[in-house]
Order: sequence, then C-alpha cells, then structure tokens
Amino acid sequence: MYSKKNIEDQILVIFGSNGDLARRKLLPAIFQLYLGGFLPENFIVIGTGSLEKDASANRKDVKSALTEFAGESINAEPDKLETFLAQVYYIKVHNQTEKDFEGLKDYIHSLSSTLGIKENIIYYFSIPPFLYDVVAANLVTYGLNLEDNGWKRIIVEKPYGYSYDTAVELDKKLHNGFLEEQIYRIDHYLGKETVQNIMVTRFYNGFFEPIWNRKYIDRVEITAAEKIGVGSRGGYYDTSGALRDMIQNHLLQVLAIVAMEPPAIFDSESIRNETVKVLQALRPIKGNDVAKQVVRGQYIATQVGDKQHTGYRQEQGVNPNSKTETFVAIKTYIDNWRWSEVPFYIRTGKHLPERVTEVVIHLKHAPHQLFKQLCLTNPNNMIILRIHPDAGIAIDFGMKIPGAGYKVHNVDMAFHYADLAETKIPEAYERLLLDCMVGDSTLYARADAVKTSWKFIDSIIKAWQEMPEIPLYFYECNTWGPLESNKLFNEEYTKWREPKE
Ligand code: BG6
Repeated sequence: MYSKKNIEDQILVIFGSNGDLARRKLLPAIFQLYLGGFLPENFIVIGTGSLEKDASANRKDVKSALTEFAGESINAEPDKLETFLAQVYYIKVHNQTEKDFEGLKDYIHSLSSTLGIKENIIYYFSIPPFLYDVVAANLVTYGLNLEDNGWKRIIVEKPYGYSYDTAVELDKKLHNGFLEEQIYRIDHYLGKETVQNIMVTRFYNGFFEPIWNRKYIDRVEITAAEKIGVGSRGGYYDTSGALRDMIQNHLLQVLAIVAMEPPAIFDSESIRNETVKVLQALRPIKGNDVAKQVVRGQYIATQVGDKQHTGYRQEQGVNPNSKTETFVAIKTYIDNWRWSEVPFYIRTGKHLPERVTEVVIHLKHAPHQLFKQLCLTNPNNMIILRIHPDAGIAIDFGMKIPGAGYKVHNVDMAFHYADLAETKIPEAYERLLLDCMVGDSTLYARADAVKTSWKFIDSIIKAWQEMPEIPLYFYECNTWGPLESNKLFNEEYTKWREPKE
C-alpha cells in the first residue's frame, strides 16, 4: 500500500493546467490524494498555460475548480484547502515558444532550491495532441528531460496518434529524449477500480477461470453507452469518431483484460505482455468484411419528452455533412487457443438511453436442455461485470418459479461495490497519478499495445474511406443506436442485451 512515507519528494508540472481536463479531473484527483495522505511531505504542483497570471491568481482559479469539482471533499475537510493551495504554483508557458521553457527551467530550479525539493518531476501533457511532440522537444532542448538530479516522467493523454503510422511517428519523437520507461500513456479506463477488478475476479477465484474459455463461453459483449452527446467537444470529436475515441483505447484495453492469459507473476511487464498478446490475436476486419462486422451510426435531432436534442451535424464545431460515427458496434474474434471462434461484440455510442459500461459473458447453455420449453427467459447463464454505474458483478441463472410444474425464470446474484461501505472507490485519475508518482506503469498502455490496437482500427477506417457505400445509419437520441447493430448476431440470439440497473 502506498503512503506518503514511501513516495519520493517530487514536482508535478501540468501543461494545460487551465484546461478542462485539469480543472475537472487532474486537480481534484491531486487534491483527493492530498486529503488521503498520499502526497509526500515535499511536493508541489506547477501549472503552466498561455495565460499570464501570478501564483496567487492561479490559486484562486484552482480553488474555483476544486469548489466546482471536489466540493464535497472540501466540505468534509475545509481547513485542508488552503494548505493544499499553498503547494500550487504557476508559470506562463506558451507550448510552442521554445524560449518559455528556459523560464520554466529557471522556475523549477528556483522553487526546488528554495523549498528543498529534489527535482523528481512528472510532466503531465494535458494539451491538444498536436503539441505532445512539440512540448517534449522543448523540454529536451533545455535539458528538462535529464535525470542528473532526479527522475523525469511524462504522462501523455489520449489520443496517442491518429492511426498506426502517426502513433509510430509520435513514439519516435518522444523517444528522442525520453526512454520508454519514462513515458506513461494514460488510458483512464485502466485506472477504473472495476476494470482492475476483472483481473482479480478471474485470477483469484478458482471457479471463474475453468469456465473462461471457448468451451463454456458462447459470446462476450462489451458495451460503453453514454447518455450525453458530444456537447462542446464537437471540433475534436469530428476528427475522431467513436472508433478512435472509445474503441481504439478504452474498450480494446478492457477486452484485452477480459481475454488475457493469467500472467505468471503479477508485475507490470508480465501483465502488459499478456494483454498485448490478445490485441495481436485480434482477427483484422478488412475490406468487405467491414460492412458485415461493423455497424456505424450517427445521432440525429430528436425530441425526447419536452427536451429537444441537437443532431450531431448541427453540433458546434461539427461539419454539417459530417460522416463521423457517434455509434459503432463491432463483431470480432480473438484467434488464439482459448477464444477460437468465440465472437466478441463491442459497442459504444453517444446519446443512448443510459450511461452504462459493462462486460457480459454469455455462457453456453446446458448440453441437454430439459427445461427448454418451460424457460421464460434467456436459457443461457450470464456473468455481468458492471463497470459503471452500480459497479459490481452479477451472475444470472435460471430458477424454478414456485408452484406446480417446472417453469424456469432467470434470477440475479449480485455483488455491488457500494456495499463495501468502508471503502470509497477512488477516481481513475487518482489511482493513475499515484501509480506514476511511484513509477508503476502497470495500468498505463505500453507502446506495442497502442500500436497494435491502431492496426486493428486502421483497417476499418480504411474500408469506410474506400467504400463510401458502407452505410452510416442515423439513429434517434435516447435509443440503443441503429437497429442494424442487432444484425451482427446470429439468428439464435437476435440482439444486444439491454443493460438494466
Ligand atoms: C473519453 C472520451 O476518453 O472517455 C469521451 O474522449 C468519453 O468521449 C469518455 O465521454 C468516457 O469516459 P467515462 O469514464 O465517462 O466512461
């Protein structure tokens, strides 16, 4: 267990500290770590951005971000806010102005010597992707990557590249000054407690692992549904789409954890070796198969009750003729010994009826179905790994309905994380920041995994570009996306499971 005693003194530099991600997620996560007693005695945050302001004006801004996004924690321990803010500094750095990095260097040196903090530094790139290599190069120019007087690490946000080639290119540029061990590619899904718990569920409990294979599992469904649209992120989203925004990173990582082999030892490299093998075994979807195995959709203007939802093409920053998908559903296979011919279905979309992320393991039905005619629900057992909301696990199986005869109905046996009342589930960013602070990269994506998943995504995008006849289906907000996504299934079972609370 980490505590301030075993975390080295350090400095966290946030590039883009006035931005949305820093305000909503990073600063509240650091504050939470502070409240939890995880930050070392000697620790400061240096925010940077293109705004000109002094440290005290910045503290006011940080205070307002924390009030907005960590209000409950402030109320619980009001005296801690000011002591935390005293550890927050700021310097104006224009990311594309090389000279500003000399100023940053001097600022770090002077704070480190006045406050007596060793120059162990994390640089967090909370900036638009086109600036990742620019900032890295500017750091290198002023020797801010050198480890003579303390280690240096960089955390790079997603998207990591825009395709396989651009990810390789970015990797090359970052390696020009930073070693692989210094690069932390963040995927906040890996920081989710419930995603990590998939490994514990599988590898701690003797009764799941024996059935976790093609012999007993019929199919796997992974759903990440969002109730909201693209909101103010239309400009970014229109260059990305659901496939790049959610599948390439978050959902392929979840799939890799669901499908990985047990590592021999539980350390960063062994785990990441196993997850990358799953990604390497994904059967590529190319050419005409894209039309059969991938369904894309885009939400349209819809009246839901008394609320009018804007259509995607009318959103701010979106091309009015955009073909960008806000929904995607994929049927794919993992070509290895464990999963041969077991279909994996993955879907994600904006403006769906619920915000829910879950993995559903559909087990094969019993070999000889004595109660088939009497079964009122799905005859297959399911294991549901619920990531959000109501995090937990449910096992779904058939039971006799009391009374005469043998009518069977499915029931649930469920574990809810919320029942572990003594434990607050930490936010993904808290966990990931802490891991980087102690140098544990297990829950960060490794370069080979990122590149391999881009390869899988690229061939789908290529087909969409080269075969415009592949339809983009329109769907109304508050529906589960285009009905065509159900066609990915065989006849025996005809549609996606509808997630229930
Ligand atoms: C982000 C995507 O990475 O993940 C967003 O860019 C998406 O479009 C978000 O809304 C979903 O994350 P979560 O944790 O809310 O499921």
